[in-house]
Amino acid sequence: MGSSGWPVSGQSAEEVLRRLEASRRQDADWRGGRTFSLVYHAGEEVADLVRRAYGMFMAENALSPIAFPSLRRFEAEVVGMTAGLLGGGPGTAGAMTSGGSESILLAVKTARDWGAAERGVRDPEMVLPVTAHPAFLKAAHYFGVRPVLVPVGPDFRADVEAVRRSLTPRTVLVVGSAPSYPHGVVDPIEEMASLAAEREVLFHCDACLGGFLLPFLRKLGRPIPPFGLDVPGVTSISADVHKYGYAAKGASVLLYRDAGLRRHQFFACTHWPGGLYGSPGILGTRPGGAVAAAWAVMNYLGEEGYLRLAQRVIRTADRFREGIRAIPGLRVLGDPPASVMAFTFERGDPHRLADGMERRGWHLDRQQAPPSLHLMITPAHEPVTDAFLGDLREAAAEVEAGEDEGVSGVAAIYGMAAAMPDGTEVRDLILDFLGQLLDTGGDG
Ligand SMILES: Cc1ncc(COP(=O)(O)O)c(C=O)c1O
Repeated sequence: MGSSGWPVSGQSAEEVLRRLEASRRQDADWRGGRTFSLVYHAGEEVADLVRRAYGMFMAENALSPIAFPSLRRFEAEVVGMTAGLLGGGPGTAGAMTSGGSESILLAVKTARDWGAAERGVRDPEMVLPVTAHPAFLKAAHYFGVRPVLVPVGPDFRADVEAVRRSLTPRTVLVVGSAPSYPHGVVDPIEEMASLAAEREVLFHCDACLGGFLLPFLRKLGRPIPPFGLDVPGVTSISADVHKYGYAAKGASVLLYRDAGLRRHQFFACTHWPGGLYGSPGILGTRPGGAVAAAWAVMNYLGEEGYLRLAQRVIRTADRFREGIRAIPGLRVLGDPPASVMAFTFERGDPHRLADGMERRGWHLDRQQAPPSLHLMITPAHEPVTDAFLGDLREAAAEVEAGEDEGVSGVAAIYGMAAAMPDGTEVRDLILDFLGQLLDTGGDG
């Protein structure tokens, strides 16, 4: 080994691949349905198609649609198909981005620039429920928009009256989720968007999670409330192809009511010695593979394929919900209509329950305010439903009887966060932890 971990001479492809394979042994077992976030797996056949499409366009750069008309066409078709799914009309305009966070960052930046240009607002505010994804707060932080957080009601959906009270002449954007990540419920999009329309400000619907699932569930007869661009007042919407669209990571779609609004998203630089430069989003170089893979999976599955997958997802989610409700002390929060849900434990600490599930090989994300555990059901969970529910019943009984191993480090940190409403120390812990992970590759 040379300095800084560099091998002095290169290794064979077989050796490098063997080392990659060996390294992933400790990784989360998403293929086996043991995790409930991060990966959306629709089976090996779909994954294989996505891998091949990504590989074909791995080197191509969607920064230049002039050099790669293929990517330009794929992007336009993905945007068009997504608009068709989400209530777009003849004027709808959109773009692909690298993921939900980039779509959200851009929607907020667009609103800020629209507010300045069209309303003369210099100190913009955005009104959003506390359950909206942190990418909105990141956007607020990056772009100097003041976030005005509103509470959710007992059903975990945004409080419409609180939204009304929070609107000021500085408001440029109102936000709702379809569904929200923490509890999987759909905000009252119609009412919220109508308030935004009354004030003639923008409304973004965050359908990053639900954009490629809810429309298919509706077609299957599920009662899914309206949330798309066809709802009066909704001026933009984001939907991630790399979530329930089952594409490769790096693919989301951001749609606007019209091209005039989308123009506020773009960036142009006219005086650079390197030439005239224009870029639609936050990234410079844009991975062609992600665009091609999104196009490929949408064409491969078609509407029928997505309907079949949605059917499997909702059948499995229903079994999880019923199973959880049948376990003494467990309660599903709100009335989540799709595949994402949270449940709490009323006979013990939910975070200790998560520890108990961890010891049984299940990785559940922990939530706070109120403490709960999070589930995001995908087709990969269908075969493990009964095993999961059996372990959950056992782990819950163990925590209730005080026969578990007590409070783990993670459970203690959540306890600390709950006890410190201003969050400064926990924020420092998170920032230090992020640095440590980068510095040690996680081994430190
Ligand atoms: C509702 C919602 N919005 C936005 C995001 C952010 O998406 P990404 O992680 O692709 O940036 C997520 C991610 O889970 C989400 O659930």
